[in-house]
Order: sequence, then structure tokens, then C-alpha cells
Amino acid sequence: MVGQTNGAEPPARRVSWFVAGVASLAALGGLLFGYDTGVVSGALLFLTPQFHLSTAQQEWVVSALLVGTIIGAALAGPLVDRFGRRPALLACALNYLLAALCLAASLSFPWLIVTRLWLGLAVGAASMIVPLYLSEMAPPHARGGIVTLNQLAITVGILVAYVVDFAFAHAGGGGWRWMFGLGAIPGLVMFVGVLRLPETPRWLLRAGRWNEARRVVARTRPAGTVDTELGEIQEVLGHEKGWRELLRPWLLPALVVGVGLGILQQITGINTIIYYAPVTFQSVGLDPATAIGATASVGAVNVATTVAAIFALDRIGRRPLLLAGVAGMALSLTVLGLGRVLPGLQPANTAWVTLGGILGFVLFFAFSLGPGFWLIQAEIFPLDVRGPAMSVATLVQWGANLLVASTFLTMQNTITPQGGFWLLAFVCLCALAFIYTFVPETRGRSLEFIERALRHSPSRNLREAVRAREREEQRVPTGAGER
Ligand code: BGC
Repeated sequence: MVGQTNGAEPPARRVSWFVAGVASLAALGGLLFGYDTGVVSGALLFLTPQFHLSTAQQEWVVSALLVGTIIGAALAGPLVDRFGRRPALLACALNYLLAALCLAASLSFPWLIVTRLWLGLAVGAASMIVPLYLSEMAPPHARGGIVTLNQLAITVGILVAYVVDFAFAHAGGGGWRWMFGLGAIPGLVMFVGVLRLPETPRWLLRAGRWNEARRVVARTRPAGTVDTELGEIQEVLGHEKGWRELLRPWLLPALVVGVGLGILQQITGINTIIYYAPVTFQSVGLDPATAIGATASVGAVNVATTVAAIFALDRIGRRPLLLAGVAGMALSLTVLGLGRVLPGLQPANTAWVTLGGILGFVLFFAFSLGPGFWLIQAEIFPLDVRGPAMSVATLVQWGANLLVASTFLTMQNTITPQGGFWLLAFVCLCALAFIYTFVPETRGRSLEFIERALRHSPSRNLREAVRAREREEQRVPTGAGER
């Protein structure tokens, strides 16, 4: 196998309109992930007085969806294998649509909780199925960009949610019904669109449907590469392994990085902002409508920075961006805490410092841990165990998300808001140490190279393993070395 790949990516080629259309439709699942997780922040301001929600009940409205995501991500694995990727996407779209409508019709606190949980099933399943579908449909030369499209869709979904929240902020007590209910529209578009999407060639080949697989590959790959591509897929299928393979010791360094980044993406606090920003803005004196407006600017910064990150991750590299981003997140959180305690700050100034701190935090997250976790976990696992391994990392990531979302308000009440922000800043410093020690630079390195590093290095540290392998093969691609 050594010598087949030299670590360098093939030159970029254009992506056909068909692939772009297919990717955009599938990415609607990511958009709904963002919408349904983001929309609750504005709705909460109206739900709280209407249903007389306590702090714990507010946390439950946010967290019920997250409990659903864990179940959804676990169910998605058997679903995609048994029925195919396309039917699984259809099921997600249908559940997005129906659950949004039922949620909007809620008449009681238990009803809210059950429908948020139901919606979570769709979000959790889609968070696994969409990247899987995208990576299986994408031509190899464009896989990185197309997979990162999912993160862009998530951030666009969050922004749309904030804009919708803002638009209905003046609609009085029932505005929250529109906020939740409008999620049904992209759900419907996705359902109708996915009906026209092809099944992935990989699943078709596995099901023995050779001719259909050939037709799909012919539409998505440049002419002349169809047979090679089909042959490669079959080779991978031949090596496909199940969940038990995850227990192999040689895989452990990759699991540590994938699962570790999943946990750190969440416990450094992004969703204390994405879900609770309006509550935070209100706590420094902004009225509900202004608080939701300020939150919309957070969503815009998130989208714009993610667009920049799509290019920067391939040019600058993963490690420098991760390290700089997480350091910036720690700094922003420190400022957020200081804004509340520095003597001499007028309430209005506290609000500005809070806005600056939150915008800074989101900006730093959006070019580091945001896309970084999803991208790196798609790069470090060998193809034959990528499904189960990504599933584990995704599940753990949602679990960590639940932990933070369900305890944040209580934590702030217990150790004060500034104490909460400083605690998260400390977690960012731990994340910095983790990334510095364990996360390898994957830019420009082929999956085969990383797999060889994993299989042949005695080191239990993926970064060390990759560097050792690089020295051994003496093939440091120009400009792709670690910074
Ligand atoms: C995370 C979400 C987060 C979003 C913010 C995603 O990568 O998984 O938890 O809400 O980024 O943009």
C-alpha cells in the first residue's frame, strides 16, 4: 500500500451542477439541524411567561431536543444500513415536518417536551446521515468542501432561526408558535427534494444493485473515472468492518482525537451562546426585541466566518486555526466575565462588552472547533470503520451538548454569570493543551497516509504517530507540514 498515495490531494476539479444540487438538497438536513437548535433561544423568552416555566423547565425545553438527538444518532446507523441513505433522509425530512407542526401547536409543558424530543430524533439522525450521504456522493477531489457544506448549512439554519425569532419578537405571546412552526417549510422542501435524490453508489453496490450504482457514479464523476471509482468502492466494501473493530488498540489514538474534539466542541460553551444568547443579553439590560436582534448579528458572524473557514482550513491548516481559535475563545469568555464585574462600567457599557465578547467568541469558534470537529473526524478514521467510529463521536458530542445546555442556567445561578464564563475559559485552556498534544495536522495528507500512521506507529498519540510516519516515509509534502 505504501507508495500508492503521497499525501497530497489531487488537484481541484469542478463540481457538476448535479452534484452541487444533490449536496444542497441533502444539506437542508443540516439547515434544519441549525434552525431547530437555534430557534428555541428566541421562543424561550415568550414560552417562559406563557407556561410559567422555572429555570429548570426552561433548561428542559432546550434539552429535550438534545435527548432526542442522542437516540436519533444511535438509530440512524442501523437505519441507513438496512433501508439505505435516501429513505433515511426522507424519514428525517418527514419527522422534521410533522414534529415542527405538532410543536407549534403545543398547549402544555409536557406537550412541549414530547414534541421537542421528537424533533430531536430527526436532528440527531440527520447530523449523522447528512455528512455520510454527502461524503458518499461527493467525488473524491471535492469531498472536503462538500462535507464542510453541512457545517455551513447548520450556521445558515441558526441565522435563519434568529431572523425568524426577530421577525416574530413583536408578534405578542403567540409569536413562538410561528418560530417553531416555520421549520416545517424547509422540512417540506427537503422531503419533496429528497424524493428526487439518488441513493448513494456505495449503498447500491452493497445491495447488489450494480447497474443503478453505475448510473449514479456516471452522473457524479468525470467521464473516464467511472470504472475506477466503482472498483474503489467495491474494494472498500470488501474491507468494511463492524462496531467490534472499534475495540482494536491501533484505532485508539484516532478515537481519542475524534471523541475528544466532539466533547471539547461542546464543553467549551458554544451552545451557552447559540441557545441562550437572548437570555444573556436580557440579563445585561436589553429588552427582548433588541436582545433577539443582537442575537441575529451573532448568527451572521457565525455564517460569514464559516464561509471564510471553508477556504482557510485548506490553505492555513487545521492545527493553527484550531489553536488560534480556541485561544481567542478563552479570551472572549474572560472578557464576558470581566464585563460584569469591572467597576465603573455603566449598564449600557456592560451590554456592549457582552455583545463584543459574544461576537468574538462565535467568530473564534466558527473557524476552529465549529467546522474542525466535523472535518477532522471525517479525516482521521480509516474508511472501513468510519461509520461506527463517526457514530460514536457524534453520539458523545450530543451527550456533551446536553450536559452543557441542561446545566448552564443553573450553573450561572450557582457560581454567578461571570464565574460561569471564567469556568468555560478554563475549559478552553484545557482544550488548547489537548489540541496541541494530540491533534495532528491533516491538511494535504491522504486518508491512506493517516491509516498507515495509525496501523504502523507504536505511539498512542495520533499527532506523534502521524509525525513519526512522516519521518519514516520521508515524504513531507511542500507546504503541508505541521505548524
Ligand atoms: C455544533 C453545534 C453548534 C453549531 C454552531 C456545530 O458545529 O455541533 O452544536 O450549535 O456548530 O454553529
